[in-house]
Amino acid sequence: MSVRRAAAKATGTKPKGKDGSGPRHVAIIMDGNGRWAQMRKRPRLFGHQAGARRVREVVEACPELGVEYVTIFAFSTENWKRTQTEVAGLMSLFRRYIRREMEAFRAENVQVRFIGDRPRLDKKLRDLMDEAEAFTADCTGTNLTIALNYGGRDEVARATKRLARDVADGKLDPDSVDEETLPKYLDTHVLPDPDLVIRTSGEARVSNFLLWQSAYAEYEFIDTLWPDFTRDVFAELVKNYGARDRRFGGVKA
Ligand code: FPP
Repeated sequence: MSVRRAAAKATGTKPKGKDGSGPRHVAIIMDGNGRWAQMRKRPRLFGHQAGARRVREVVEACPELGVEYVTIFAFSTENWKRTQTEVAGLMSLFRRYIRREMEAFRAENVQVRFIGDRPRLDKKLRDLMDEAEAFTADCTGTNLTIALNYGGRDEVARATKRLARDVADGKLDPDSVDEETLPKYLDTHVLPDPDLVIRTSGEARVSNFLLWQSAYAEYEFIDTLWPDFTRDVFAELVKNYGARDRRFGGVKA
């Protein structure tokens, strides 16, 4: 088995890149809504609303681009530090978005999932998240995962707590714990690792997004602000990925 194939097996992703195939799982840090709104002298929420409209365009492009999984960072565990007005506006936008888009996603065979720490979210939103997941559970097309109140460190801490409980309850032998154990406890346990992570708006930071899962992901940091992110920009990045030489820590044969 080649180094790439062995590493890919360990991380749960198929080896992709220079062999001509595109990314199976794309994760996106949708940044720049606030600046986009500011440039138009509008409130920040106006930018978030414009950003929300872009999500559909990206999801609809996935089948044609060969992307099976798309994961978007909608609200981080750190975003609570924003003003009460912005946080409340975002929460209301998420509720409206789920209510409005659920039918369309199901009609397009999109399976919707959420990752993140749910208890801090309000009950109405949590119920809608449960409803959207149940409503699209049988869909077999694109897998859309929305990260809401998500932080990579928080996710690893919550996973570790569950793992420790299983050890304490005698369900898990601590000596058996290896790199394949923790991912089973992460929110993303049913997803493959991302192959490509995109961040818009010119910031070159990871911001606590999918820390464990992106160990071997390829990154694209682009200047486009999220509300200006089009299908064509997405297609270009997916195409660029095909030229990447993913070695997963190994060397070329
Ligand atoms: C970062 O831009 C964006 C967010 C914190 C919110 C992301 C939310 C959306 C794209 C809209 C809703 C999504 C769904 C799924 C309904 P920023 O506000 O930090 O921009 P800035 O850096 O220019 O201030």
